[in-house]
Amino acid sequence: MNILILGIDGYIGWALAQKQLYLGNKVFGIDNFSRRETVKEMGSDSAIPIETMNKRISKIKEVYGNRIEFFEGDLTYSTFANDIVKKSCPDAIVHLAEQPSAPYSMIDQKHCIYTHQNNVIGNLNIIYAMKNFSPNSHLIKLGTMGEYGYDPGFVIPEGFFEIEYLGRKATVPYPKMAGSWYHWTKVHDSNNIMFACKTWGLKSTDIMQGIVYGTRLKDIPSYIYQPTRFDFDEAFGTVLNRFCSEAVIGHDLTVHGAGGQTRGFLALEDSIQCISLLIEKPPENENYRVVNQFDEQYSVKDLANKVKSIGDKKGLDVTIANTENPRKEKESHYYKADHKKLRDLGFKATRTIEEEIEYVLEDLHPHKDRILKNKQAIIKKIKWNSQVSSLISLNPSTP
Ligand SMILES: NC(=O)c1ccc[n+]([C@@H]2O[C@H](COP(=O)([O-])OP(=O)(O)OC[C@H]3O[C@@H](n4cnc5c(N)ncnc54)[C@H](O)[C@@H]3O)[C@@H](O)[C@H]2O)c1
Repeated sequence: MNILILGIDGYIGWALAQKQLYLGNKVFGIDNFSRRETVKEMGSDSAIPIETMNKRISKIKEVYGNRIEFFEGDLTYSTFANDIVKKSCPDAIVHLAEQPSAPYSMIDQKHCIYTHQNNVIGNLNIIYAMKNFSPNSHLIKLGTMGEYGYDPGFVIPEGFFEIEYLGRKATVPYPKMAGSWYHWTKVHDSNNIMFACKTWGLKSTDIMQGIVYGTRLKDIPSYIYQPTRFDFDEAFGTVLNRFCSEAVIGHDLTVHGAGGQTRGFLALEDSIQCISLLIEKPPENENYRVVNQFDEQYSVKDLANKVKSIGDKKGLDVTIANTENPRKEKESHYYKADHKKLRDLGFKATRTIEEEIEYVLEDLHPHKDRILKNKQAIIKKIKWNSQVSSLISLNPSTP
């Protein structure tokens, strides 16, 4: 199969590309390297060193030959989106190429608007490119569980649910209640994709993904696998990855408030496993399919305790600190989401979260100095209810 990966240089994209090559597919990748720039803007860098794209690709070619092609470019340019879809004749398009950080989108008006332009327009360009040049491709779009909101008071369905109102029943999309500008861009994307599928008969799987953690892919031998990036700063470090980075350098694990916020989580390995399954098994009886992609739910406090107990066994002497919560969210709430569809397709978690935490701590240990060098980037400066651009040195190259 021809797989077009939008956002191939990112945390998930680079791991997915290697998995798809390993499975025997041909991979076309695009990226504008904005993630490298925005992490720099936060005063940080990937804890695990990563190569330039030129070096990445030439090493990959030594193993997989010409089964990979890379094109640098920005999806917000429609001509670029059209060209890449025409060139790659994709069976599946995996769309990861968005600004993925909620805190980053909340910095100020400029960052909110950048996130909207980048995500919503890029997504529309890819939908149009599909309609015009590759209407039979399967679009696999990475959305987030955060689109639903976190405290509806009842079980969150997989996209749609049945309601009864004034005596009539209907199946409707779950009302989205996102909690940041970033999450709202994902809701807008989902609505646009749903509309395009209905109107033009395009085929898409919209993934509501939980929070991803981890460093490794199981199948690919370590002498072939090129590590993906791993961030720990306040905007781009997802919570468990950040806790592990903090543990490795002897920094308190920074739990927001009391840490009762519960979310769905999955390992990088399993995110890749699920996306690969969805590539193999496109929707059959529907044009627009929504899946909730996570393994288990944990509270932030549970995760901190797990990192502490595993870190302490490794002699790290981990401490936990409850810090002011910069977000507007409930710290204690009912949270339960359906996540049956991927299991029905064959998804089974590769490892336990405890095993994964052990591996992350091991993989970060040799790069402790890189985390220490940028440890100021961990501290929370972005708050949901204030404009803090003065606290952050903006990179003028960011649009
Ligand atoms: N990592 C998680 O925990 C998580 C959870 C839920 C959803 N997601 C979603 O999954 C996707 C991938 O996440 P990730 O963690 O790998 O993020 P990432 O930032 O590491 O990867 C995205 C890649 O897309 C590129 N990109 C962004 N805008 C682009 C544009 N306009 N044109 C071309 N390239 C562009 C970036 O440079 C980056 O390399 C994102 O859409 C994110 O919102 C991630």
